[in-house]
Amino acid sequence: MSIKIVGIIGSGLMGTGIAQACATAGIDVIVRDIDPAALKRCIESVSSGLARLVAKQKLTEEAKTAALAAIRTTTDIKDLSGADFIIEAATENLALKQKILQEVEAIAAPSCIIATNTSSVSITKLAATLAQPGRFVGMHFFNPVPVMALVEIIRAIQTTDATVALTEELARTVGKTSIGVKNAPGFVVNRILCPMINEAIFVLQEGLASMEEIDAGMKLGANHPIGPLALADLVGLDTLLAVMNVFYSDFKDPKYRPAPLLQEMVDAGYLGRKSGRGFYKY
Ligand code: CAA
Ligand code: NAD
Repeated sequence: MSIKIVGIIGSGLMGTGIAQACATAGIDVIVRDIDPAALKRCIESVSSGLARLVAKQKLTEEAKTAALAAIRTTTDIKDLSGADFIIEAATENLALKQKILQEVEAIAAPSCIIATNTSSVSITKLAATLAQPGRFVGMHFFNPVPVMALVEIIRAIQTTDATVALTEELARTVGKTSIGVKNAPGFVVNRILCPMINEAIFVLQEGLASMEEIDAGMKLGANHPIGPLALADLVGLDTLLAVMNVFYSDFKDPKYRPAPLLQEMVDAGYLGRKSGRGFYKY
């Protein structure tokens, strides 16, 4: 494969999972975060994720050691200048992503593909911040990355065919199935999934059933692997709120308004698993 080094911006839930998936596939990874504690958690989390696979005899101890050795971390964006492919996976915020992408373009090699893992923001709008928008693409992984088989590949109107082809190649190399999607808020999966989770929060807010009953309802009655409120906690309530706000403002349709209880939870700092408390306590 032509992609030897992947740079990742943001070492939260998603950046960490993407780093694990790439390193396990034999690709060198360099992860950048502004928070050194997040970088430390990234390595610890990849290490425990790989140890789990070794315990289940799905990975050898040698492969685990090699994958861990393939991941470097940094707080300095210039350290990503040797990457063939850079994936932005920082906090879901348009202004932040625009700023990061300009910083990335300033240090990236001319041939480097620049991708975003955004859950909802317009790929076309983000591409427009770059001097070379043709090399920009949406590469949307799903959480938890080591387990979820899908990647959505979203083309901005500026994205070239060559950029899409390389992104498809990377998705295949890390063992994912990709679907091609046209640019629109939330693409395909989140357009369907996030309003369902938001509706579950309205149902809770209206007192129609307890959290446990809502989650049991969707597990037992719709065969979902986990209930929508547990899924909100897995995704991160701040991320879910950001996605619903993009839908609400971009579609200009009140059906996408975020549930007030979701806003209230985020205001309280109850962000889900990552903060130790969301709808459930962890
Ligand atoms: N790393 C590696 N492996 C993991 C893992 C992780 N972080 N989490 C779970 N696994 C593995 C387990 O080792 C286990 O493997 P085996 O089947 O080989 O034993 C398997 O996944 C199942 O895990 P568990 O038995 O521990 O727990 P579970 O059965 O409850 O499954 C789950 C966990 C896979 C997360 C499952 O609950 C699930 O599929 N939930 C729904 C996830 C989902 O919908 N994700 C999409 C979120 S939306 C999104 O990502 C887009 C966005 O932009 C917001
Ligand atoms: P997170 O809150 O777990 O992590 C975000 C990380 O970005 C943090 O570690 C933060 O320190 C870092 N960061 C902030 N500013 C930065 C900067 N300037 N440079 C480098 N790092 C910076 O978020 P997450 O859940 O990993 O989500 C990351 C992206 O992936 C978002 O765009 C989100 O919408 C998307 N996404 C999330 C999920 C999910 O289920 N959580 C799934 C698919 C896509």
